[in-house]
Amino acid sequence: MKVKRILKWTARVAILLLLLGFVIGFVAYWTSTNDCGRPIPAGAERMKAIRYCEYGSPDDVLKLEQIEKPVPNDNQILVRVRAVSLRFYDGGMLGGSVPGRLLFGLRKPKNTTPGSDFSGTVEAIGKDVTEFKPGDEVFGVRAGALAEYICVRRNGAIALKPANTSFEQAASIPTALVSLQGLRDTARLQAGQKVLINGASGGVGTFAVQIAKAFGAEVTGVCSTKNLDLVRSLGADHVIDYTKEDFTKGEERYDVLYDLVNNRSFAERRRILKPGGICVLAGIGGSGMHKETFSNLAGELTASLRSKFGNEKFVLFGVDINKKDLGVLRDLTESGKIAPALTKTYPLTETAAAYNYLETGHVQGKIAITIE
Ligand SMILES: NC(=O)c1ccc[n+]([C@@H]2O[C@H](COP(=O)([O-])OP(=O)(O)OC[C@H]3O[C@@H](n4cnc5c(N)ncnc54)[C@H](OP(=O)(O)O)[C@@H]3O)[C@@H](O)[C@H]2O)c1
Repeated sequence: MKVKRILKWTARVAILLLLLGFVIGFVAYWTSTNDCGRPIPAGAERMKAIRYCEYGSPDDVLKLEQIEKPVPNDNQILVRVRAVSLRFYDGGMLGGSVPGRLLFGLRKPKNTTPGSDFSGTVEAIGKDVTEFKPGDEVFGVRAGALAEYICVRRNGAIALKPANTSFEQAASIPTALVSLQGLRDTARLQAGQKVLINGASGGVGTFAVQIAKAFGAEVTGVCSTKNLDLVRSLGADHVIDYTKEDFTKGEERYDVLYDLVNNRSFAERRRILKPGGICVLAGIGGSGMHKETFSNLAGELTASLRSKFGNEKFVLFGVDINKKDLGVLRDLTESGKIAPALTKTYPLTETAAAYNYLETGHVQGKIAITIE
């Protein structure tokens, strides 16, 4: 009797919680909105920006508009943006997938200006900012960067731009945080070690090849036929064409597998690791949603679980966007150890074309949008 009563009450509570969840979800969905309908206050300065008010394809939703120019507070730096480089998640913000909506707004995107990796010139500073002055050339990461001006917190991800780069190249550098931290902090890559980089020709991979070389490692890059020369030119000691050869079938053994694709099984990858080696689970293939994206994601998550019981480590990696490491990347760039593999630039009016290319998942190196 008692068990029956407990079951009855459990069922009632579960139904109530479900109903409550449904109501909360419904209200959250319908109250999710953005500032698209809000008029610019009279007297406010205006600027050009790319906006998307609804989710959809780049051609349908990205519009070049006039919006209100931001004004920096005491702790902020006003940057005149000169270039924005697209990165992996930029396309994912537009499409309106379920995970995308949970992150960026349920019914409509909350932040209506996309783009994040920027470079530009300091236009003005708040009264508490001491590290930067008007005229400084800077680069960094700030949501809503596809605009003529952005305000960045003085403690935010902003650093002086490497002197030897164009604005478009400098905007491409923040992606290298993924390469730097994955190799330095997670893999703890040492000089003389052998590293294989799966996905060596994309934004993160092209930097990873150069950073691994800068650390003194012996580098093997995996890419398709059309990118072999690019990856070699970045310093890779060996290249493997994935359209012709399976990198998990060779005789070579690696200290580190830096995996930006996760398209091979756990056993296949463990086979090519030296005893005690490490696989950094850093990505799920090229940008955009493709038929293999979910299986790559599954490959990433299951490998991390399965390696708990073995000698070789498979470690999930998440980037930490911070000012200090932007400085490390600036120094590596100025010393000539790394250089952005920028292969294509677009004017602001062709932003949708840049997104379409990114979403193919087969971008060569980095691409950037110039803001004039
Ligand atoms: N963990 C983190 O914090 C973090 C942060 C940012 C990005 N990521 C991950 O890093 C990965 C790479 O990002 P990205 O910005 O470099 O992307 P991306 O620029 O879009 O990468 C495109 C490259 O991926 C290559 N590629 C596609 N399929 C491949 C395959 N089966 N084997 C080898 N290469 C393949 C393409 O080469 P081909 O044209 O030759 O196929 C292309 O050059 C993404 O999966 C992303 O999830 C992780």
